[in-house]
Amino acid sequence: MKEPEQKPLTSIASPISQVVATETKTPVSARHRHVRLNWQAKTLIPVAAALLNGVLVFLFTTLTLHPDERESVLLVASAGAVVICAILLITLTVVVRRPMLELQQKIQHVADGNLDVEVGFSSRNDDIGDLGRNFNYMVEQLRESRQEIERLHRTQMSRAEHMATLGELAAGLAHEIRNPLAGIAGVMQIVSRDLPPTSPAREVVKDVQEEVVRINRIVSDLLETARPRTPEFHLADLNATVEHAVGFARQQVLSKPIQINFTKAPDLALVEHDPRQLHQVLLNLLLNAIQALEGAGRVDVLITQTGENTVSVAINDTGPGIPAENLNNIFRPFFTTKGHGTGLGLPLARRIVEDHGGKLEVTSDLGHGSTFTLVLPFRRPRPEMTANA
Ligand SMILES: Nc1ncnc2c1ncn2[C@@H]1O[C@H](COP(=O)(O)OP(=O)(O)OP(=O)(O)O)[C@@H](O)[C@H]1O
Ligand SMILES: [Mg+2]
Repeated sequence: MKEPEQKPLTSIASPISQVVATETKTPVSARHRHVRLNWQAKTLIPVAAALLNGVLVFLFTTLTLHPDERESVLLVASAGAVVICAILLITLTVVVRRPMLELQQKIQHVADGNLDVEVGFSSRNDDIGDLGRNFNYMVEQLRESRQEIERLHRTQMSRAEHMATLGELAAGLAHEIRNPLAGIAGVMQIVSRDLPPTSPAREVVKDVQEEVVRINRIVSDLLETARPRTPEFHLADLNATVEHAVGFARQQVLSKPIQINFTKAPDLALVEHDPRQLHQVLLNLLLNAIQALEGAGRVDVLITQTGENTVSVAINDTGPGIPAENLNNIFRPFFTTKGHGTGLGLPLARRIVEDHGGKLEVTSDLGHGSTFTLVLPFRRPRPEMTANA
C-alpha cells in the first residue's frame, strides 16, 4: 500500500512566515519611496526651525547691546541650539532607533520561520515597551499555534499509518476468506442439486447460500475499501448509468409496495465517469433508501444539471430520516444501525464520488425522509490544473 505522503513540518510554518514576510518584504516605505525622509530629519527639522526662530528673536532683542556683547550672546545661543539638537538626536537614537532596528531584525527572523525570538526592550515602562511586549506576545502565540499544528500533524500521521496497516491486514484477510468461500458456494450448489426436492435440508442449504452471498459482499466491500480500484474514466451517458442502477433496485422491490421514480436530465452532455463504480455507488444509495422505507414508501431519483460543469443525482426517500447525532457518523467506516449491515456502503460511495472530483452530501428531515445528493463535474479537474490553481 502506498505510504501516506508526509508533509515537511517546515511547510507548516510557512503560511505564518509568508504572512509576516509579505508584510515586511513589502515595506510601507516602498510605497512612499519618492517622499522618503528618515525620522531623525523629521524630528530635527521642526526643532531646528524652532531654535533658529529663537536665535532670530535673540538677534532682535540684542540689537541694543554692544556688538561684542551681542556677538557672544548670539554665539552662546547658537551653541546652545546645536547642543540641544545633538542631545535630542542622541536621546532619540537610544530611545527610539535602537528598539526599531532590533524589532526589524526580529521581524525578519520570524519571516524566515524562526519563532524563537524575543525583543529585549519589552521590559521598558513606556509605549515602546508596550510595542515590545505585544510583539513578544504575538510571536509566542505563533509559536504555540505552530506547536499545535505540528502535534496534530504527528497524530494524524500516526493515525494514517495505523489505518494503512489495518487496511493491509483487512485486505489480506478478505483475500484469504474469498477463496474458501467460493469453495463453500460451489459445494452448496452441488449439495442442493443432489438433494431430493422434498428434503427439509433444502431450506438449510438455501440459508447457507444466502449467508455465503452476504459474506462475499462484506468481504468484497472490505477489499474495495482497503485496496481501492483506480476508476476507469471515460465520457459516458450518466442518464444511462443511473437508469441501470434504478433498474437493479426495482428488481429488489418487485413484491413490495415501494415505488421508485426516475427523472432523467434531458439533453445531458456526456459525463466523465467510471460507469461500473458509479453504478455501485448508486446501488448502495438506492438499497439504503429501500431498506430505510421498512416495507412501504417512495424513492425519487432526479438528475439535474446544476451548473456549467456540474450535474447532480438526488436520491430522495420517504423513510424515517436520519437522527442528527448519526448524520456525522454515517460516512464513517463500519457505522451501521442495521443488524446485518457492514457500514461500508456510504464511506465507499463517498470515496468513489470524491475520486470522480465530486461530492456526496446528505440532508435529512427526521420523520419525513432523507436525500443523498451526488454532485459530479462533467469533466474531472486534472491534477496539474489543481496543482497550479
Ligand atoms: N436513506 C437512508 N435513510 C435512513 N438512514 C440511512 C439512509 N442511508 C443510510 N442510512 C444510515 O447510514 C448507516 C450507514 O449506511 P451504510 O450504507 O454505510 O451501511 P449499512 O447500510 O448500514 O450497511 P451495508 O451498506 O453494508 O448494508 C445506515 O446503517 C443507516 O443508519
Ligand atoms: Mg448500505
